[in-house]
Amino acid sequence: MKGIILAGGSGTRLHPLTLAVSKQLLPIYDKPMVYYPLSVLMEAGITEVLLITTPNDLPNFERLLGDGSKFGISITYKEQPSPDGLAQAFILGEAFIGNDPVALVLGDNIFYGAGFSDVLERAVHQVTSKNVAVVFGNYVKDPERYGVASFDTEGNLVGIEEKPEHPASNYAVVGLYFYPNSVIQVAKALKPSKRGELEITAVNQYYLAHKSLEMQLLSRGFAWLDTGTHEALTEATEFVKAIEKRTGLKIACLEEIALSQKRITREALYNGVQHLKGDYYDYIKEVVLRKETN
Ligand code: G1P
Repeated sequence: MKGIILAGGSGTRLHPLTLAVSKQLLPIYDKPMVYYPLSVLMEAGITEVLLITTPNDLPNFERLLGDGSKFGISITYKEQPSPDGLAQAFILGEAFIGNDPVALVLGDNIFYGAGFSDVLERAVHQVTSKNVAVVFGNYVKDPERYGVASFDTEGNLVGIEEKPEHPASNYAVVGLYFYPNSVIQVAKALKPSKRGELEITAVNQYYLAHKSLEMQLLSRGFAWLDTGTHEALTEATEFVKAIEKRTGLKIACLEEIALSQKRITREALYNGVQHLKGDYYDYIKEVVLRKETN
């Protein structure tokens, strides 16, 4: 399975923060926002990642993440010359995806919750063994801002609508999607929506109409964090800070994930970080020196 992070867009709602810096590079407490969605792909066991972003921002992401080897994965980059919709990722990523299934995560979506790795493992299994698409629903108080799921009386998913005026439920479709390889052809056949975009919701509607879409509901208490406004951005920082301070463990520490998945050795990690300063790297040094039994 391949993985794509979409980190395009102009982040106009966050101006002037995002006039000179990509939204997905803004800090969420102690690391850049993009670390969080990248950690999700890594937790899903994905080792080949394509990051799609604007021509302006691409060099900054490259400076930050490099070729991915410091996280034990491969990261390549592709420009999205104009923001023509999320589903464009599969057209821009066609050569990268090749014949594999693919996961797409939005570069500004943050996920945190117990058992998330199992949820991801199950999604990968469903896509690879059943050739279906898998999306996730999360209960929110403001569904009109998102893709929204509707269910029949038995709880079966019967529809998804993009930013409806009158939402059929409180379940928003989160920015993490798993698709079979056919998504490339599905995306290519899409027509731009009223707002002129190739909508990810239209892709999901296609799989739903073909009885090949599974929606997994994220459990109560699962945190899917928004980063779309100044308020939400601050709250995300406060959330991560509170959890990290209380547990002493970091969320989305990519080097730690790589080590736990044995994609990098303790020695290589220590050599890579020993001269680096600051809490983030002090934490990694502790992780490296921690006994393997911990
Ligand atoms: C996009 C999708 C929407 C989804 C949301 C998740 O919205 O179009 O269906 O619920 O991401 O973050 P956008 O961020 O483009 O408003």
